[in-house]
Amino acid sequence: PDVSETTQFPIPANVFAETVTEVRHYTDSLFKFRMTRPASFRFRTGEFAMIGLPNAEKPVFRAYSIASPSWDEELEFFSIKVPDGPLTEHLQKIRPGDTVLMRKKPTGTLVLDALIPGRRLYLFSTGTGIAPFAGTIRDPETYEKFEQVVLVQTTREIAELAYGRELVETIRNDEILSELVGDKLLYHGGATREGEPRGQRITELLQSGKLFTDLGLPPLDPAIDRAMICGSMAMLKDTAALLEAAGLEEGANNKPATYVVERAFVD
Ligand code: A2P
Repeated sequence: PDVSETTQFPIPANVFAETVTEVRHYTDSLFKFRMTRPASFRFRTGEFAMIGLPNAEKPVFRAYSIASPSWDEELEFFSIKVPDGPLTEHLQKIRPGDTVLMRKKPTGTLVLDALIPGRRLYLFSTGTGIAPFAGTIRDPETYEKFEQVVLVQTTREIAELAYGRELVETIRNDEILSELVGDKLLYHGGATREGEPRGQRITELLQSGKLFTDLGLPPLDPAIDRAMICGSMAMLKDTAALLEAAGLEEGANNKPATYVVERAFVD
């Protein structure tokens, strides 16, 4: 028997204990959840926080990108379900009303502050790497700073694209956001192991130029293009190398430049 379901553990000091408001499962391995936001919790869109469950004396915490924009009164997260993942094994079972723990200090590099001004913002993601960009594409500041925002995601299977597609759809149907976003947001999603023809990897889309021809955009130009990358270690490395070859330079909070990188977190 799972002790977590029968035993109540005290909330550790210095963490927020929030209430789950919504859970949505997309596939056997992907779900999103939303929870209440503590009044005192401030973050910059694109940052991550440490999330845990009150199911042990010393709860396991994992890094989770905040998938909601900083103006949202709730917090959203997009997660994989790892069968034996110390956190996601339990987290995937949460329901509205349950408690989720969050450490108080968010951090991260996928923030607009880490980029110097430009005209077009590319958001390159694979799998759950789309999570931080779910906030970015819903933040008015993004569209104040950029004339065009290009969300790119590849997944292995078609069903895994649902969260991203739904986000873009939601923005287009939202009265306030659609007004603000207009036609500035472009979306390119593809599955690389299902469908005919197969979608290309982001690295292939960049190298072949298919990304640009599909969207009617010019090739990367370090004078006006900015980028954020979020995916596996290998994807970050390979995508960053292509951006560097095109003349972009990696930035950080204390040294803004033309692209930023962060690993998509796994359990
Ligand atoms: P592929 O199906 O060709 O491996 P993963 O779950 O392995 O992280 O894969 C998620 C998505 O990222 C898939 O579309 C996968 O393509 C792609 N991907 C994996 N490794 C890389 C990489 N090094 N560069 C670019 N895309 C990658």
